[in-house]
Amino acid sequence: MARIDFLRTAMKDITQTGSVWESSRFLIRKLLDPVDWASAETIIELGTGNGVITRAILERMNPDARLTAYEINPEFLELTRDRILGDSRCTLTDESAEYLEDLHPAGSVHAVISSLPFAIMDEALQESILRQIHLVLKPGGQYLQYQYAPTKYRMITRRFQRVRLDYTLLNIPPAFVYSCTK
Ligand SMILES: C[S@@+](CC[C@H](N)C(=O)[O-])C[C@H]1O[C@@H](n2cnc3c(N)ncnc32)[C@H](O)[C@@H]1O
Repeated sequence: MARIDFLRTAMKDITQTGSVWESSRFLIRKLLDPVDWASAETIIELGTGNGVITRAILERMNPDARLTAYEINPEFLELTRDRILGDSRCTLTDESAEYLEDLHPAGSVHAVISSLPFAIMDEALQESILRQIHLVLKPGGQYLQYQYAPTKYRMITRRFQRVRLDYTLLNIPPAFVYSCTK
């Protein structure tokens, strides 16, 4: 049901969603496995869609950890709200990821987990969001991002010195996962 909700909502504005199908459990595992869950207290998710990754983050998070989850599409925001079942560790916001630095002090975040569709976003906006992701992360903080083609490799490695690129065929479409450390 959640997958069909994703498809229906995505089709209304594919230029904002950048995908027609929610992430598979295989992609979610590749994206979330590199996170140091034992020490991650402050976590950000960018682009929740129907909340499939949000739910998986909450399953892995410490009881005392806090997640701020960003989603600009109101229908997706509601689908995420339904999926997190009132988990008080998660704050959902309809702010755009482009305002990260207004909401989080520099050097305050342990991990940023992003599904933002960089490939279809304005170039200046991509650069601005990536700069802010780097700014809000603590030294040693982690940035996880997936993409359907590794087109942002240079942009990401310019900002982050330690980057590992992984891949899974088991997603629609197959996806690349960047695991970066500040
Ligand atoms: C590819 S979908 C990923 C959905 C879900 N996380 C998943 O992996 O199945 C990207 C999501 O990013 C959201 N999005 C796009 N631009 C955004 C922005 N500037 N700030 C926050 N969310 C944004 C879209 O509305 C969409 O829900």
